[in-house]
Amino acid sequence: VSSSSTTTTATGSVLITGIGSLVTNDPEAGSGGPLGLVADAAVVVEDGRIAWVGPAASAPTATDQAFDAAGRAVVPGFVDSHSHLVFAGDRTAEFNARMSGRAYTAGGIRTTVAATRAATDEALDANVARYVREALRQGTTVLECKSGYGLTVEDEARALRIAGRHTDEVTYLGAHVVAPEYADDPAAYVDLVTGPMLDACAPHARWVDVFCERGAFDGDQARAVLTAGAERGLTPRIHANQLTEGPGVQLAVELGAASADHCTHLSDADVSALASAPGTTVATLLPGAEFSTRAVYPDARRLLDAGATVALSTDCNPGSSFTTSVPFCIAVAVREMGMTPDEALWSATAGGAAALRRTDVGRVVVGARADLVLLDAPSHVHLAYRPGVPLVAAVWSGGVRAV
Ligand code: NIG
Ligand code: FE
Repeated sequence: VSSSSTTTTATGSVLITGIGSLVTNDPEAGSGGPLGLVADAAVVVEDGRIAWVGPAASAPTATDQAFDAAGRAVVPGFVDSHSHLVFAGDRTAEFNARMSGRAYTAGGIRTTVAATRAATDEALDANVARYVREALRQGTTVLECKSGYGLTVEDEARALRIAGRHTDEVTYLGAHVVAPEYADDPAAYVDLVTGPMLDACAPHARWVDVFCERGAFDGDQARAVLTAGAERGLTPRIHANQLTEGPGVQLAVELGAASADHCTHLSDADVSALASAPGTTVATLLPGAEFSTRAVYPDARRLLDAGATVALSTDCNPGSSFTTSVPFCIAVAVREMGMTPDEALWSATAGGAAALRRTDVGRVVVGARADLVLLDAPSHVHLAYRPGVPLVAAVWSGGVRAV
């Protein structure tokens, strides 16, 4: 998993042929529709990029290598635009308590903060590597990763440095919750997050994020965090409206944030705001969180019908959503959130790319990164139709066979 600059790219060319059903996400390709489905397709990969896409019958044959997909489906690599992988420990006991009826609160984050601060760099790095690999085996070729379990200047900067060894999509989330040392003075913590901590973290991140929620940061604090980050060249994204309705979604749209994530509790005004900003502020839905906190799912149908751009991601973290599996999220989104299998696939690929403002991933078009997933299935629909089944047969990341 990685994005442009940290990737090893393959040299030489590969023809992948015998693709029964290819999702390109190129509306100009295939029989029309956003997925740009091409039947009986082939793809040529050259120097880590897509060099040719079309019907197998007219594919060029002068390539260095060939791979026969034997009638199976190929989809773009999943773009998981929301994860929290720099952590130590786990929260099995908290999950167990929830499944016995206890409610999820933001406070559990502090358990992971204590474990993360106590961990060595090596242990944290090994943990990130493990989960990035786990995600890759399930088809994720681009993965965003946040800090947010350090909550000191040193621990947040360290989390971002470690994340940056595994992905270019690194997000500063010093404003995850108020650090325990500042429990009595949240304003002073916001000053730290927007001051010395930002100074230490900005060089290591592309994005700035804040958990805007009761028990975390209110609208004014969230605005302060995101605008301070933006002044230092970080693009805003936000955890918004996860547990309750609140100001987060509209703040995201107002600030031109790349995404508003969770979007579980939305007013009509929130939905209109997101629908007024398609492609600018993406609504990123994280069904693993509702699954693992036994909460009501976000209504994807309402957002899609209003015209919002929707992404689907894992939110992988040890508290609210301990899954790296985008196929799992697709299945839940289809079953529980009103998405069609086509919409869910689009949201987990092109939607994630939009949420990360990337045009080089999430689509199988000439010039894009050769991030491809071969499914042990005749169609992408099987990702929802066959839930829990390991359908990922092969993965190419930047043209390199990675799984
Ligand atoms: O996205 N909502 C805030 N942050 C995480 C949960 C983190 C935790 O519980 O450790 C989330 O769900
Ligand atoms: Fe999150």
